[in-house]
Order: sequence, then C-alpha cells, then structure tokens
Amino acid sequence: MHPTDRPRRLRTDGVRPLVSETSLSASDLVAPVFVDATTDERVPIETMPGHERVPVDEAVARVEEIRDTGVEAVIVFGIPESKDPNGTRAYAEDGVVQRALRRITGETDAYAIGDVCLCEYTDHGHCGVIEESAETDPTLTVKNDETLDLLAETAVSQADAGADMVAPSAMTDGQVRAIREALDDAGHEDVALMSYAVKYESAFYGPFRDAADGAPAFGDRRHYQMDPANRREALREARIDAEEGADVLMVKPGLPYLDIVGDLRREFDHPIAAYNVSGEYAMLHAAAEKGWLDLEATAHESLLSLKRAGADLIVTYFAEDLAGRL
Ligand code: PBG
Repeated sequence: MHPTDRPRRLRTDGVRPLVSETSLSASDLVAPVFVDATTDERVPIETMPGHERVPVDEAVARVEEIRDTGVEAVIVFGIPESKDPNGTRAYAEDGVVQRALRRITGETDAYAIGDVCLCEYTDHGHCGVIEESAETDPTLTVKNDETLDLLAETAVSQADAGADMVAPSAMTDGQVRAIREALDDAGHEDVALMSYAVKYESAFYGPFRDAADGAPAFGDRRHYQMDPANRREALREARIDAEEGADVLMVKPGLPYLDIVGDLRREFDHPIAAYNVSGEYAMLHAAAEKGWLDLEATAHESLLSLKRAGADLIVTYFAEDLAGRL
C-alpha cells in the first residue's frame, strides 16, 4: 500500500519556504512604549521582563532602540503625574503622552500611535466617567455618553501633538464616531483611527495593569468590555466601528481569540490588528524562566499564529526581541 497523497514531500528544507502560507516580518509589528511622568529614570516593569517605563526625556531614545531592531511603529501609553475622577491628564496639552508624542514625532521617523483611554488617568481606574453610586453598585459603572467627549478630546490632543494614528481602547459605545468627528473638526482628517473594536474583559491584562497602574479600584470592566463567551457579538462590535469610521479593526487579546481574528478577517476588508497582550507575554517569559519553554520559538509561533488567523498587524511586547531574528 503506497499513499498517493504525501504532504511530506513539501516539507524539505528546500521547498518549505516556497509553499509557506504565512510570513512574519518586523513591518507587521507595533511595539508598546510606556512613558511615565512620575520618574526621571527608566524603571523596569517587573511583570513584563525587558520592558520599562521611561521618562519623557528618554522617550526618543526608547523609540530609537525599537527602530534599530527594524520595528517602525510604536503605541504610546502614559502614566500621569496625577489622577482625578475625570482623568484630566489624559487630554492635557502638556500630558505625558502628548509631550512624548511631540518629541517622538518631531525627532524620529517612527509611526506613532496614541492609545486613547482614561483608565490610566482616573483615580478610580475605570475607562471613563463613573456614576456616583459606582462604588456600591458596580454593575453600571461608566457613564457612556459623558465619557465620549473626554475620549474625543484625548484623541484630538494626541493628534495635535503629532500622533499619526489614535487607538481608542475604552469600549465606550459610539467612541469611534465621536473621535472621528472631533478629529475631522480639528483639521486632523489624515490621522488614522485603529479601533480596539473587539476587546474582551480578559484576565490576560494583569501584567499591563501593573505596568500602567490602571487596575480598577473597585469592580471590574465587564459591563463595558466584552464577555469572553461571545463570538457573534464580536462581529456586531466590529460592524459598528467600521460604520463609525474605523480604519483598522483590532481584536484583543490575541491568542485565546484566534477564532475571532479569523471571523473578522473573513467578514471585513479593513486591515485587522491583533493585540498579543501582556499576559500572553508574561506567560511565555515565566515558563521560559523555569526552563519549561523555549521563549524565542514560542513567541515566534504565537505571532505567526496570529498572522495565520488573519491579522495584518500585531501589537506585541515581543516586537523588539523578535524583529531582529525575522
Ligand atoms: C487601556 C488598555 C489596556 C490594555 C491596553 N489598553 C488595559 C485594560 O483594558 O485593562 C491592555 C494591554 C495588555 O494587557 O497588554 N484600556
């Protein structure tokens, strides 16, 4: 008995590259950068080995380190000097992200993306303005419509500071339209908008919340971020954001949600982004530290899988480390 179909014939070293369906390159990757207004020095982020919070004065140097590896795009997160109920430092002209963006876009050729959310800037740690009763009744914490203006103001202030793209991650209904209109009104019609359209209420964000100091002081985010049990709802979320004017649709987290990346790939002609989140990064690092997994191989396989599922671009903490090896 001789099998006629022998897929092995195409697995030799010589032919594998010719029949490879997916490729990964540095130009697919976006590297997160944390800019911290509370420090004069670089501070390592314990839960994300290899990553640091840097002061504004180091932002350009940090971005150049990333560009030296071949990664040209960064997404900037901020740790403000102070927090208050309305997250005012998120949309201040001299806010930490605004100051960093001005320097990064003025002094480097990086493609600069601003993360638009309030959770790092509010003293309660939620992604918008909250109800007075929130502490006792956390089921309906964030006031959706009151939050829209603040997100729009944040996006415009980032665009004013030179951002090439803004990326709203607050999961506020209507945020894409509110931001798009505000950007256009302010003369920023060429600033692109990448929506965290499908953002799940995920336990995989833990290490990031340490890094950016953005954990909610009470309650959780499950009445504004998506239920991990839902798949069809992801298409609904993405459709709304596409109609509201998003240029890129993102799925977050990445690996546990490959089915969703695939669904969006099939349904939309927009570029699809996947966010390989902090927990996905920390897991591999922790296992590698114990000698249980090969860090580089598992990181590469993770990102390749996101691309295979349909992502065009990937936001990942592995960007710098992997880029040089691609
Ligand atoms: C802000 C924001 C978060 C992440 C990206 N933007 C935190 C959150 O929603 O809790 C998480 C990124 C990661 O875990 O790597 N809303």
